Amino acid sequence: MPDALQELRDYLTRHHGGDGERAATRALEGHERNHDDVFRRFWSEHANAQLAPGSRVVDLGCGPGLFLRDLSLTSPELELIGVEAAPYMLERASREDYEFNIRVADLNDPPAELFDSNSIDVALANRLFHELHQPLVLLQKLHAWLKPGGVLILIDMVRQPLGSFLTHKFGQDRLDEALDAREMAALFEDYFEHNRYHDYDLLALLAMTGYEILADEPIRSGRAVQIAARKPVN
Ligand SMILES: C[S@@+](CC[C@H](N)C(=O)[O-])C[C@H]1O[C@@H](n2cnc3c(N)ncnc32)[C@H](O)[C@@H]1O
Repeated sequence: MPDALQELRDYLTRHHGGDGERAATRALEGHERNHDDVFRRFWSEHANAQLAPGSRVVDLGCGPGLFLRDLSLTSPELELIGVEAAPYMLERASREDYEFNIRVADLNDPPAELFDSNSIDVALANRLFHELHQPLVLLQKLHAWLKPGGVLILIDMVRQPLGSFLTHKFGQDRLDEALDAREMAALFEDYFEHNRYHDYDLLALLAMTGYEILADEPIRSGRAVQIAARKPVN
């Protein structure tokens, strides 16, 4: 295995709390919440118009692939492809009988030939960006892979003040009991890894790589955002 892919896998295992199996289980259990009515309404408003029989939909960082499984049941006429790197996510995805393919790649620096130019109708990146070391290279490559008018649905956590993060974690705003230094170090690492961008950072990255913004909505009481962006037609 190339060193870079192994390094990425080591990073992802650390980011996923050192326990990939548990992270994959959490992704399976959180599927309904992460693809709820708010998501489905946004998807149908901004992705559906782009889809016709044979259209290609790509889920970037697809995890165990439940979104693609659902889409394969409701829209079997679509071509569905997931991209993923973590072995524990890939294992869970292959346990079931899916009507989609998965390509293994590092989305920090995906090979240009992962997809043909102008071949993707809709791409989804649901909580992928905060796990990337940087998302600009992917945004540039995706711009080439999307058809003119092709849509990216981007969903991710956005930066929240440290105070509200801690209050949310502890369930209280005063910390009177003695704290454990190792647990606090892990908590702060978690904060910095999950609070990387403001929504205006994501909008700036999209603008710099040539996308038009179709919609930008705060979700989860402002702790996350869903953005629809498009490769311009001309
Ligand atoms: C928070 S999970 C979300 C999974 C799925 N999109 C969902 O909504 O359930 C992010 C996924 O992106 C994958 N991922 C993160 N960085 C990646 C990279 N550089 N290349 C490929 N996949 C990556 C992780 O392994 C993980 O499965």
